[in-house]
Amino acid sequence: MIKIEKLAGYMREKYRFGWMGCICIFSVCFQVQAQKAGIIHPGAAWPDQKGNPIQAHGGGIIKIGKNYYWYGEERRQGLDSNYRYVSCYSSADLVNWKFEGDVLQLSDPENLGRHWVLERPKVFYNRQTKKYVMYFHLDDARYKLARVGIAVSNTATGNFKYVKSFRPLGHESRDIGQFIDDDGAAYLVFEDRPNGFHIAKLSADYMDVERDMSLIPQHMEGGAIVHYKGLYYAIGSALTGWNPNPNKYAIAKKLEGPWSPFEDIAPPAVKTYGAQSTMLLKITGSKTTTVLFMGDQWKPKAQWDSRYLWMPLEIGNGKLWLPEPRSFSLNVKTGEAVLQKDRE
Ligand code: GAL
Repeated sequence: MIKIEKLAGYMREKYRFGWMGCICIFSVCFQVQAQKAGIIHPGAAWPDQKGNPIQAHGGGIIKIGKNYYWYGEERRQGLDSNYRYVSCYSSADLVNWKFEGDVLQLSDPENLGRHWVLERPKVFYNRQTKKYVMYFHLDDARYKLARVGIAVSNTATGNFKYVKSFRPLGHESRDIGQFIDDDGAAYLVFEDRPNGFHIAKLSADYMDVERDMSLIPQHMEGGAIVHYKGLYYAIGSALTGWNPNPNKYAIAKKLEGPWSPFEDIAPPAVKTYGAQSTMLLKITGSKTTTVLFMGDQWKPKAQWDSRYLWMPLEIGNGKLWLPEPRSFSLNVKTGEAVLQKDRE
């Protein structure tokens, strides 16, 4: 308070501001400060810094230095239907996002025909090669190819260049997820229809999938993993296409397992509040660690308007629970997420 009085005095003297002028300026500062705390409204339209709806569906987030990069499926209206696009947004606070452009623009790379599919892009940064390596689900219209595609860039914001596609470890792969452990090791999660849920380590240059850590004989899409207080938590959704279902989680002490049976992350009747998992994001701050559930609320007939359901999870001691969505503030410096009083 003393500091504010001194500052106001200084401003009055130097710039001849009246008290009202000082009050106005301070209230603007406080508003900016309030925005800095940053409120996320799960399931609401989420504009980027230019006011356009964020298009980063089935996405994944990495942190490079102080910045977060969110990559996802670009689904805005009016795109050239010959291409598939991956968008990139950057943010320092996970709330205010700057559109960095469509960092991958790809025409049918494997002669897959009309309505070919590029979904769930995930970008890994390789510290040795200094390359950004993007994995995505690549398929034909009938989802029979079941491969991953890889594209590479020298910078986080592209452009990414297509390199190749393959079936990881020779297995079918549709939905993919990414997991980077606390030791920096990078893993691809992939859904293999005949066999189950793979958690597989990437090769040293990330250009290949090297070996299975676990193959859980459970059919789960939208796979995601977080390492929290000595336990691994894996989540995923059932196979119901664009329609929501009760997502589930399992735990293990090691990535190799053994994994517990899968349990509900929310009351089954609410079908994950209309969302499908895409990532678990751990925010380790100076005061606490928050784990965010990131999910997509798909609108198959209006994909450009599909929404994001992000919520801080209740997690610990082998239990994980997605509370009923409501707005929350997020402070990436302290790691704190505070639920707001009014429910959405
Ligand atoms: C979902 C999957 C999406 C997309 C969709 C197509 O289950 O998670 O990424 O493939 O099916 O129906």
